[in-house]
Amino acid sequence: MQENLKQVFLNEINSINSLQELINLKAKYIGKKGIIKEKLKNLADLSLEERRLQGKFLNELKDFIEETIKNKEEELKQKEILESIKKDFIDITLPGKNFYFGGSHPVNKTLLEIIDIFRELGFTVEEGPEVELDYYNFEALNIPKDHPARDMQDTFYISEDVVLRTHTSPVQVRVMEKKKPPLRFISPGKVYRCDSDISHTPMFHQVEGLMVDEDVSFSHLKGVLVYFLKRLFGDIPIRFRPSFFPFTEPSTEIDIGCIICNSKGCRVCKGTGWLEVLGAGMVHPNVFKFAGYEEGKYTGFAFGMGVERLTMLKYRIDDIRLFFENDIRFLRQF
Ligand code: FA5
Ligand code: MG
Repeated sequence: MQENLKQVFLNEINSINSLQELINLKAKYIGKKGIIKEKLKNLADLSLEERRLQGKFLNELKDFIEETIKNKEEELKQKEILESIKKDFIDITLPGKNFYFGGSHPVNKTLLEIIDIFRELGFTVEEGPEVELDYYNFEALNIPKDHPARDMQDTFYISEDVVLRTHTSPVQVRVMEKKKPPLRFISPGKVYRCDSDISHTPMFHQVEGLMVDEDVSFSHLKGVLVYFLKRLFGDIPIRFRPSFFPFTEPSTEIDIGCIICNSKGCRVCKGTGWLEVLGAGMVHPNVFKFAGYEEGKYTGFAFGMGVERLTMLKYRIDDIRLFFENDIRFLRQF
């Protein structure tokens, strides 16, 4: 019967697979209310001889059970460790996840490139407010209230005297009010017009330029702007076309040979082979008067360009609105 007990225990422990089961088994056999304790209690009823034999046997069995459980515990712990290693296995041969870094917006890239070119030519950078007085946006640029040139620009009015600037030209007057010639600066920034189609947006960027001194001539204007365009676009055809702005006289618009069709004529250049990229001219004497400069003392040239326009040509983008939709698939290409 006692040999039988040992065998029953061995059968039980061999079928165990978890530490919890082992704890239960330990309590069942050698716990405070376990089988061995129970049997030891019963020894009192036996004869002295039997008590001695049984006592020895039970104590040996208890030691055997303790030892066996300890070994089993070790074995189960090892098994658990191996299993968790297998489960938490990290496959370092799997391809990694891609992280994308942010980049400059294409319009900003062009803007920085423009600034760099003019900086090399000795131009500084000036800024002016986007919410502008009617006075600086129009009046001081020789565009009086009833002047038809005000119709050329669809203006967002904040009040009768305050507008969202429609171009960067007001910075010309603001800087001239504060500084005396020689002046040589550009002024990049946002401008606003009530306008929206594939080549116009309500907000866009311009870069203004102004150079004023005692003997600045149209040939300076030509030299600076031809150099600038060749730096930005490479060796392309350039032409100066007579134009009109109230704040310059004479005025010109500058075209480059269409880089989409190599001047052959296409949809983008409307079949002409030419694309307008700059407005420019010699500063009108009235503008110097508004700036408070001594009459007849100075001459200068001014120019203005649309940065989105230049960016579209540089990267061959056919819809200006793509710049402002923030589609990550578009932006990642730059
Ligand atoms: C002007 O704004 C003049 N202030 C430029 C100037 C400065 C002339 C100094 C002489 C001396 P214009 O309205 O043509 O000119 O605008 C200049 C450029 O801004 C255009 O060639 C075009 O590229 C860009 N532009 C005009 N309207 C929009 C628009 N809604 N969206 C995007 N770009 C525009
Ligand atoms: Mg124009």
